[in-house]
Amino acid sequence: MEKPFIYVTRKVPEEALLPLMEIGEVEMWPHEMEPIPREILIEKAKTATALYTMLSDKIDEKLLDQSPNLKVVSNMAVGFDNINIQAATEKGVVVCNTPDVLTDTTADLTFGLLMATARRIVEGAEYIKAGNWKNWAPMLLAGTDIHHKTLGIIGMGRIGAAVAKRAKGFDMEILYHNRTHNSDAEKELGATYVSFQHLLERSDFVVCLAPLTEKTKEMFDIEAFKQMKNSSIFINASRGGLVNEDDLIIALSSKEIAAAGLDVFREEPISNDHPLLGFSNVVALPHIGSASVETRQEMAKLASRNIIDVLSGKKPEATVN
Ligand code: DGY
Repeated sequence: MEKPFIYVTRKVPEEALLPLMEIGEVEMWPHEMEPIPREILIEKAKTATALYTMLSDKIDEKLLDQSPNLKVVSNMAVGFDNINIQAATEKGVVVCNTPDVLTDTTADLTFGLLMATARRIVEGAEYIKAGNWKNWAPMLLAGTDIHHKTLGIIGMGRIGAAVAKRAKGFDMEILYHNRTHNSDAEKELGATYVSFQHLLERSDFVVCLAPLTEKTKEMFDIEAFKQMKNSSIFINASRGGLVNEDDLIIALSSKEIAAAGLDVFREEPISNDHPLLGFSNVVALPHIGSASVETRQEMAKLASRNIIDVLSGKKPEATVN
């Protein structure tokens, strides 16, 4: 019997692909930093049985329509807003993702970004490297405290709960807003469910961890920023599309909010002349929430296992449709 053609859209750790090589004909886009051009992805998908994809690959109806053999799209990410789930489901294509293995790593980075923004860690590092440190001074690079403050989490899923767990160690009050109540987070972490508006008004730190959907798109607009305290800090470690970036720029310029820590952007990568990078009170990172060596290896392996499960007729560990 002919082996299934499995196309991997980015150079991933070879070890993760070995099990795939046992069951199929595996071909990989050979570059790590450079995403596969759309025309090549469409061409490869035409004969592929499985696509092993990244969050930067757009898997839309047009691509799915031209991929008659496709059985599974395995995204090496927990987010899947790059994939048209409805179209995939209608065509009988299973869509898989990589939850759980990245929860703690992403929560670590999210909390680290919150700390870096509040305590001006990046500014301090740049200051000393630029040779500006002449003297200790009482208010030099004074930031804001984290402990005993109020943290508002938008999106209390696995990563949200893991961030709340870290915040508990800092004696923070934890508020959250979510599609549904998370009774475990309420019981175990003392998190309190509140409305979006209440969360914005009360929180010292607003952390966005909700998935990008039609409903959450640009939920952080000027109205939302205006409801936040002028002293509050906005953190986004989910998807840039949840934020109206023009409004965020206005909110920062007009001091509606005090600072922002951003791991994600509407268009990625952003250019280094992007207006958000011009603010000294913005800490910007290149979408590295889950980027530890251990976690990226686990994500790469889970993405492979998901393909193997689907192609061998088993229920995959993580499917989204
Ligand atoms: C995800 O998995 O969706 C993150 O954004 C990248 O790891």
